[in-house]
Amino acid sequence: MTLDGKIATASGESKWITGEKARACGMKLRSGSDAILVGVNTVLADNPSLTVRTKRAAAHADPAFGNPKLRRIVLDSRARTPLNAKVVSDEFAALTTIVVSNRAPKKRIIALAKRVNVIIAPAKNNSSFAIRHSSLDLRWLLKKLGAENVTSLLVEGGGEVNASFLLGGFAQRVAFFYAPKILGGRDSRKGVAGDGAKKMSDVLQLREIAWRKVGYDLLLTAIVAPR
Ligand SMILES: NC(=O)c1ccc[n+]([C@@H]2O[C@H](COP(=O)([O-])OP(=O)(O)OC[C@H]3O[C@@H](n4cnc5c(N)ncnc54)[C@H](OP(=O)(O)O)[C@@H]3O)[C@@H](O)[C@H]2O)c1
Repeated sequence: MTLDGKIATASGESKWITGEKARACGMKLRSGSDAILVGVNTVLADNPSLTVRTKRAAAHADPAFGNPKLRRIVLDSRARTPLNAKVVSDEFAALTTIVVSNRAPKKRIIALAKRVNVIIAPAKNNSSFAIRHSSLDLRWLLKKLGAENVTSLLVEGGGEVNASFLLGGFAQRVAFFYAPKILGGRDSRKGVAGDGAKKMSDVLQLREIAWRKVGYDLLLTAIVAPR
């Protein structure tokens, strides 16, 4: 994110905020995870591959670099992920899971299920986010993924998904990269969106904080204090 906590412009442009070294470090985080998760808006805006890309990243990593079994998970209650999205159409499609709700159009579910795994998850309706969107039940999903041996899940955005995990109490650790850039803008996308904390006593506390310089960027790693 930029120094002022933004992850994309108002139009959804996000490439690139951090420098090469930070991005290589991000790849290393991916390679150490069982699965990586994003929201459907990120797929629609960026069409990401969500793989561990080698070459450039490998130069910064250890010999065990790479994670050919990295699962890719998309929260997409209405099954809006395009059939030509990279996560659906590339050679790793078998490693993709699209999580939908039972409100998703059946035709879309069937079309996606021909290429990738589809999980139908319950949706929650108890936040103002859920009034505007469908908020898939993360507790249910994490239990299901745990039963499938996903023991470390890297949540990579966007802002709504980050907020659901962080403010919902589902994140154990954070790794935030800060680029020395200021984006500003009322409508630019925030690293953590959602409803936010209503009062300072509800603010999420971090502990065991470490700051590291990665190229021109900063990496903050910390443990999320239990609420
Ligand atoms: N700089 C970076 O590192 C970075 C990383 C990632 C993304 N981005 C940027 O972030 C932007 C997208 O972020 P965003 O906040 O608009 O969307 P997002 O977090 O990518 O996706 C949010 C959508 O996911 C679905 N969803 C289902 N269950 C959810 C739950 N429990 N919690 C949250 N979302 C849930 C909802 O859509 P449905 O109602 O349709 O299910 C919701 O609108 C893009 O512009 C992208 O470029 C930047």
